[in-house]
Amino acid sequence: MTFRAHILGAAAGGGLPQWNCGCENCNLARRGDIPAQTQSSVAFTATGHDWAILNASPDIRDQLARTPALHPTGLRDLPLKSVLLTNGDIDHVAGLLTLREQQPFKLFATAEIHHVLADNPIFAALNPAFVARKTIALDTPVEIAVGLTATLFAVPGKVPLFLEGATVQTDLMGEQTVGVHLRAAGKDAYYIPGCATCPADLAARLDGAAAVFFDGTLWQDDEMVAAGLSQKTGKRMGHMSMSGPDGSMAALAGLDLGRRIYVHINNTNPVLRPNSDQRRTAQDAGWTIGHDGMEIEL
Ligand code: MLT
Ligand code: MN
Ligand code: ZN
Repeated sequence: MTFRAHILGAAAGGGLPQWNCGCENCNLARRGDIPAQTQSSVAFTATGHDWAILNASPDIRDQLARTPALHPTGLRDLPLKSVLLTNGDIDHVAGLLTLREQQPFKLFATAEIHHVLADNPIFAALNPAFVARKTIALDTPVEIAVGLTATLFAVPGKVPLFLEGATVQTDLMGEQTVGVHLRAAGKDAYYIPGCATCPADLAARLDGAAAVFFDGTLWQDDEMVAAGLSQKTGKRMGHMSMSGPDGSMAALAGLDLGRRIYVHINNTNPVLRPNSDQRRTAQDAGWTIGHDGMEIEL
């Protein structure tokens, strides 16, 4: 057994650089001064042969092409056995449209997230004769690849951006936004790319894990406002920040964790710059800043 994670894309929606963004990080990435990062997705395996991908980003075509472990092993034989979704956001589901070439795989999500897909007829491109849509109830372990089980649990979040109404509750607990408890080879890992707040019982759930992959969208709540890019705070987007008294570094500080790794990092986040004070602060707090192509042995 080899419980392994491969970060296919470490960036949040938009990626680094984002097509229309002239922020400092996006410009640095365009010039090749800092590494570009693709959108949010992590692949997991318990065997090295059978893989599950958590979230299907719009960049999945390139992500698969640059990851030999996921290349076809025969005419239509693929190590990729399943895709699991943690919410219905575009950066996590648009890649499904790339996976439409009559390839068998299982598509796991909560009933609520499956409804979002079912309400969008373009996803009928995933032929049901090949792609089995499997509903996972919360708090119920399911094998998503050989030897790899996933248990979904509610984390505070909101509905996808494109389904927002006039008012939006950003810390809904339900099936719209879930964290994933992965278990293989007797080890536990957690994947939580979107999380609005971290109540004590959520932190307690993570204690003792071999690794936690956590929402690294913003360094601070007003980051996009301060950069002049948006009126939206992190809280409004359903993402808690890394820093501050109610940030993720503080929330997970007391836990016994093998690895703590940030994923879903927005292009404005200063931790994307190798020499930033913020990156050093996060690393001093025991965090790894995830990047495309990063392999983690669990
Ligand atoms: C998010 O994580 O907040 C969303 O991906 C935003 C978006 O869909 O652009
Ligand atoms: Mn996102
Ligand atoms: Zn930018």
